[in-house]
Amino acid sequence: MNSQNPKNEISRRKFLQNSSLATAGIYLGILGMPKLFGNVLMDKEPKGIPDVKLNNGLKMPMLGFGTYGLSGEICQKSVVEAISAGYRLIDTAKVYGNEIEVGKAIKQSGIDRKQLFVTSKLWVDDAGYENAKKGFEETLRKLQVEYLDLYLIHRPRGDVKGSWKAMEELYKAGKIRAIGISNFDPAQLADLLSYAQVKPVVNQIETHAYFQQSNDYKVLKQHTIQMQAWAPFAEGSNGLFTNETLTQIAKKHGKTTAQVSLRWHYQRGIVAIPRSSQKAHIIENLDIFNFKLDDADMKAIEKLDLNRTQFPEWS
Ligand SMILES: NC(=O)c1ccc[n+]([C@@H]2O[C@H](COP(=O)([O-])OP(=O)(O)OC[C@H]3O[C@@H](n4cnc5c(N)ncnc54)[C@H](OP(=O)(O)O)[C@@H]3O)[C@@H](O)[C@H]2O)c1
Repeated sequence: MNSQNPKNEISRRKFLQNSSLATAGIYLGILGMPKLFGNVLMDKEPKGIPDVKLNNGLKMPMLGFGTYGLSGEICQKSVVEAISAGYRLIDTAKVYGNEIEVGKAIKQSGIDRKQLFVTSKLWVDDAGYENAKKGFEETLRKLQVEYLDLYLIHRPRGDVKGSWKAMEELYKAGKIRAIGISNFDPAQLADLLSYAQVKPVVNQIETHAYFQQSNDYKVLKQHTIQMQAWAPFAEGSNGLFTNETLTQIAKKHGKTTAQVSLRWHYQRGIVAIPRSSQKAHIIENLDIFNFKLDDADMKAIEKLDLNRTQFPEWS
């Protein structure tokens, strides 16, 4: 599978050289990292969010900030607070209806665009070659950015082949640094791989302690496609934040159940994108790189798997 276009590769490499993401020494605090999807860049002292190297060579933070359900001023304020707290990966989508506010927050943050990793998603209404190109332009305009770091097919609906072709072209033209998918099961992924010229770098799927996605985990790893967890807390459903097992583990490490959940994702090599509208939570959710879950903790959390979605209405 050809995931590189030589011309694009040159500009991408130049881009990376200029990017402070590429140069910053923020890849740290990886105590006993497991086998990962890509290459996490490591150092000894925890200083920030580590990066993972995607299958096209692009570096992406191992923890990001989700924006589903955030709108208006709350969205803008939360994203500004997240960037100020240290998040660099911001996850939005056309269907969240908040790309304008996310764009305003990016401007307001004062952070150089090149230091951020901005993800958005093509909604099902924009599926197909022509519509995907228009949908992408609309997303850029709303976000007030010149390019996206990552653009995902939000759901495998409609003319996926046409959408992917459009996204491959945008990628090769340098308007997106990486392209990926979301909510694709292994069969849908296999179908896409049967015609894709550019391999997806990421599959963003529902993943949390109650739905651990063990099979998708293996399949994505085999394909070196980075797994990204949406709803890493299951949105708190089924009492996740007060779960007995997570509470005990949290006490043992002097952490919260939210931090244990995020650390668990991280130790599995999964990129989580938790959302919060509360500054204290935004900061708390970043503070996961200075402790390590041991084997007993990991096994206890493994037992929480119900192996089913907590959001059947979205399936
Ligand atoms: N690709 C897809 O189809 C898809 C689908 C869903 C979501 N996503 C992406 O994934 C992101 C994350 O998923 P999500 O937003 O659905 O849910 P989530 O991150 O699992 O949960 C968000 C909820 O957790 C609470 N929370 C956050 N930190 C907390 C803490 N430290 N302590 C206690 N409560 C805490 C938040 O409340 P507070 O605001 O009060 O902190 C909020 O109610 C989304 O925002 C979106 O970017 C993608």
